[in-house]
Amino acid sequence: MTKLWGGRFQKSAEQWVDEFGASIGFDQTLVNEDLDGSIAHVQMLGDCNILPCDDVQSILGGLVQLKKLAVENKLEFSVANEDIHLNLEKMLIDLIGPVGGKLHTGRSRNDQVATDMHLFLKNRVIEIIELIETFQQTLVTQAETHVETLAPGYTHLQRAQPISFAHHLMAYFWMLERDKDRFKDSVKRIDISPLGAGALAGTTFPIDRKVAAEYLGFANVYENSMDAVSDRDFILEFLSNSSMLMAHLSRFAEEIILWSSAEFNFIELDDSFSTGSSIMPQKKNPDMAELIRGKTGRVYGNLMGLLTVIKGLPLAYNKDMQEDKEGMFDTVHTIVGSLKIFEGMVRTMVVHTERLHDTVHKDFSNATELADYLAAKGLPFREAHEITGKLVFLCIQRGYFLLDLPLEDLQQASSLIESDIYDVLSPLAAVRRRNSLGGTGFEQVKVQIEEAKKRLA
Ligand code: ARG
Repeated sequence: MTKLWGGRFQKSAEQWVDEFGASIGFDQTLVNEDLDGSIAHVQMLGDCNILPCDDVQSILGGLVQLKKLAVENKLEFSVANEDIHLNLEKMLIDLIGPVGGKLHTGRSRNDQVATDMHLFLKNRVIEIIELIETFQQTLVTQAETHVETLAPGYTHLQRAQPISFAHHLMAYFWMLERDKDRFKDSVKRIDISPLGAGALAGTTFPIDRKVAAEYLGFANVYENSMDAVSDRDFILEFLSNSSMLMAHLSRFAEEIILWSSAEFNFIELDDSFSTGSSIMPQKKNPDMAELIRGKTGRVYGNLMGLLTVIKGLPLAYNKDMQEDKEGMFDTVHTIVGSLKIFEGMVRTMVVHTERLHDTVHKDFSNATELADYLAAKGLPFREAHEITGKLVFLCIQRGYFLLDLPLEDLQQASSLIESDIYDVLSPLAAVRRRNSLGGTGFEQVKVQIEEAKKRLA
């Protein structure tokens, strides 16, 4: 088959060479964006009297037909036509005749592919922002029911201080809030049209790039044609924002996995988000959370992959840049799936409030209360820490917790201790009294939930 660019060639490449160079296997994902870009381009060519009205009408008619065939999944792409741009151009010519060859007036595949990528990513990022918001809403709903559910707070994965379970859930809300902000902010760098930059240097035709950009709904146009065709920052930024999002999801996934183990037993995942074992009949595995934790690796990989492709590339377009697509498509697919799954998993999980309550009554996470109590009575905090540490050690030797110690033992350690210490040591009081701004005190948790709802409204 002769190539659309075949004029200067004496012989054609063998099929296996074509296959290596072709991107149609994956860039057919851009079929709608490519057709929209062509529609805007040809309309602009008409507006600027570069093509006569009749030609514009026939080309538009052909492109609209192709859009319809695309929706019906009836387009047959071929590796011989290399990529989505040449495939569609060839189909257009087959459909409406040689006039279809006028579509490519004043443009290049270089500005065409960049335009497609901008269009594609803009819409996906808007979708992703909505998915993050849905997930945040679910976190707020769960948090609202668990403001007064006591839970152990950890540092070093060792029990540290009792917290409100809602406080823990809301920490992820705020991570997602920053992720959402980053995606939102990135839109202004995606929402720029490269169309009309040509191969690299612009065109001799009297085109109007702003008109084409307007047809496509872009807010701006690139100021420099060479930058327009060689910029992939907007994809790198997307992959970087996605990596940070996945970092957060993987941390949450790890906690979900821990919490649903028999050792923790803090939550139970719904059957519909769990899987069984082919050999061990008793198993109920948190596969979805594990997969999200695992898929974080491929998103990081996609970021590193494209950073490495771009590194050292001379201006302007280089075929290396064709490698920008699979990682981007894969990342969109991965984060959309991960956000949907995570939302469902958190919405349907059962929180074992009794078990959580028990844990903080059978540990030393109230030790800071005793130290703070002594410090509040004027003892230097270091000394208060030392005394409390010794009492903890005494408890461990006797198989007690601090609340089990008789007052005499406590007073022997420090005469500052009075009988009100038992109220102070209660985990409920410990949480309630942490009322500093952003702390785990119930009132503070309610304040942040209110703030979160305002952000979502
Ligand atoms: N398939 C190519 C890509 O994805 C389109 C641009 C090709 N341009 C060129 N001059 N070969 O990057």
